[in-house]
Amino acid sequence: MPEADKEGERYSADVPQQSPGFFLKGSHQLDWGMKNRLASTFNPETGRTVMLAVDHGYFQGPTTGLERIDLSILPLLPSCDALFCTRGILRSVVPASSQKPMVLRASGGPSILREELSDEQIAMDMDDAVRLNASGVGIQVFIGGEHETRSVHNMTKLVDAGLRVGIPVMGITAVGKTMVRDAKYFRLACRIIAELGAQYVKTYYVEEGFETVTASCPVPVVMAGGKKLPELEALTMAYNAVQQGAAGVDMGRNIFQSDAPKAMIAAVGAVVHQNMKPNEAFDLYRSLRTNK
Ligand code: 5RP
Repeated sequence: MPEADKEGERYSADVPQQSPGFFLKGSHQLDWGMKNRLASTFNPETGRTVMLAVDHGYFQGPTTGLERIDLSILPLLPSCDALFCTRGILRSVVPASSQKPMVLRASGGPSILREELSDEQIAMDMDDAVRLNASGVGIQVFIGGEHETRSVHNMTKLVDAGLRVGIPVMGITAVGKTMVRDAKYFRLACRIIAELGAQYVKTYYVEEGFETVTASCPVPVVMAGGKKLPELEALTMAYNAVQQGAAGVDMGRNIFQSDAPKAMIAAVGAVVHQNMKPNEAFDLYRSLRTNK
């Protein structure tokens, strides 16, 4: 048997990790408030989430599709389980009457104009996350990056602050431009993030061995969307990710840069929550596209 197969076997990807008394992997021993916030972000019936990521402006400014979040994103709110955004957008654009769980971007620093993006700091006090009634906070972790240690410590400080008030932290695997994006790298990055206390991890899908990434991460993994793909490819990627153990998605460009964002988020929702097959979900997208 080839070495790669033997390695895959050690992850027992087909044997789910036990989570007695709570529906989310690795979360059963957390406190009530933290669990309650997780249960608003992840659907307790499916154990998954469709989080809509619109935080890009924190380093990219008005990205295509996010020029007017009031016009392009607010109409999508009813179709997602949670919104991932900055506190600036939350306060300035999102109605406080919204019942939607908000996960807030909590790191920042270098803009897209800089070559090295790992030079981030914590960019929001946990006090403000509490004030804003956040369901979670998200922070970039640059494993292998130039400022690796700082970004890891940013996350652990945020985790400590989150534990004090019951706000979960989503650690995001940020991959340097020149790094290899493979299962070996993402296993390493996701596991470090979980071991150091993040309550869930956002990471990219890889074609080979993604199930070993989710299996070796003791807390839920949500799939990051990445650059815009044709809709069928994006739906296939989301389908494969959840079938291979992801607890849903945190997708941005593949939804809001679609020709029909409302149709696309509905199709992603069907893939994530109903295990709809990619071709069927694409048909759903096409049939809803006329009502964009
Ligand atoms: C990068 C991030 C983002 O800023 C954003 O959420 C990315 O979303 P997408 O790649 O789906 O457009 O977290 O890691």
